[in-house]
Amino acid sequence: MTNELPKKQLVADSFGRAAAHYDDVAVLQRQTGDELLERLDLVKIKPKRIVDLGVGTGRNLNYLAQRYPGAQLIAVDIATGMLQQARQNYYQQQGLKRWLPSRNKMHYIAGDAEKLPFEDNSVDLIFANLALQWCDPRTSYAEIQRVLSPEGLVMFTTLGPDTLSELRHSWAQVDDFPHVNLFYDMHDVGEAMTEAGLAGIVLDADRYILTYDDSMALMKDLKILGARNVNRERKRGLTGKHALEKVRQAYEQFRKEGVLPATYEVVFGHAWKGVQAQKMAEDGSVAIPINQIQRK
Ligand SMILES: C[S@@+](CC[C@H](N)C(=O)[O-])C[C@H]1O[C@@H](n2cnc3c(N)ncnc32)[C@H](O)[C@@H]1O
Repeated sequence: MTNELPKKQLVADSFGRAAAHYDDVAVLQRQTGDELLERLDLVKIKPKRIVDLGVGTGRNLNYLAQRYPGAQLIAVDIATGMLQQARQNYYQQQGLKRWLPSRNKMHYIAGDAEKLPFEDNSVDLIFANLALQWCDPRTSYAEIQRVLSPEGLVMFTTLGPDTLSELRHSWAQVDDFPHVNLFYDMHDVGEAMTEAGLAGIVLDADRYILTYDDSMALMKDLKILGARNVNRERKRGLTGKHALEKVRQAYEQFRKEGVLPATYEVVFGHAWKGVQAQKMAEDGSVAIPINQIQRK
């Protein structure tokens, strides 16, 4: 029996505490967020209600507001500390624009991607940058499919299993505990999305390599980001200096051209609301959104 907090609470607490300094080290998150927004530019939609799921400090909110003036924007995060930071950042970024008639209606809601606080068929666009890797894909994509409106779209990035492979290998030389979170691979994600009933699923993966002078700096960044190890079998308690020194030495095997790489496997995905979840009309007909007809 353990009196430790459940996984969700650990994630919420850890990100909540990280909110104030998260932006100082969120290099990868900025990069993938920008790329996801660029991909969104290619899609012709006019969403009325948009959810930034796992909004973090809200860096993408301002862009979404500019891109879709007048739309209702809902920032959702499991960590209330992140929501407060997002609200504050958005307020500052908007400046005087917040008085314009075309301003976006903003809402900040503490919620779980595995139990979205929305009615069925009620959200036109779900944008989720590097948040869904914290969730069970079966539950979260089923929730996304449930709440998307008939022509709704989800666009996201998540992390794949090669993420932080150097750190994982280095720890494996020190003890048998999992020190790095495990991530689902693109096929598991695709399967979960298909099972959820989403349609027009597109997935691709890319590798990003951040470089560090030493591996302690990487571990420090992960801590500042709030990305803590939530493996059930993880080692409890503080990590000793001796163990950390061993990891540091093991990580040196990856040094190349004077720097240490930290690999991130990023999966980009988008999909539309699947038709099977739509209600049949009384005469037995089913209305299929035009975008889905085009892609079949
Ligand atoms: C790596 S941050 C990404 C934040 C932001 N999307 C960005 O681009 O910077 C992951 C965020 O997901 C949130 N998160 C983790 N699990 C969640 C869940 N089950 N439901 C909602 N948000 C969650 C965390 O609190 C954190 O703010």
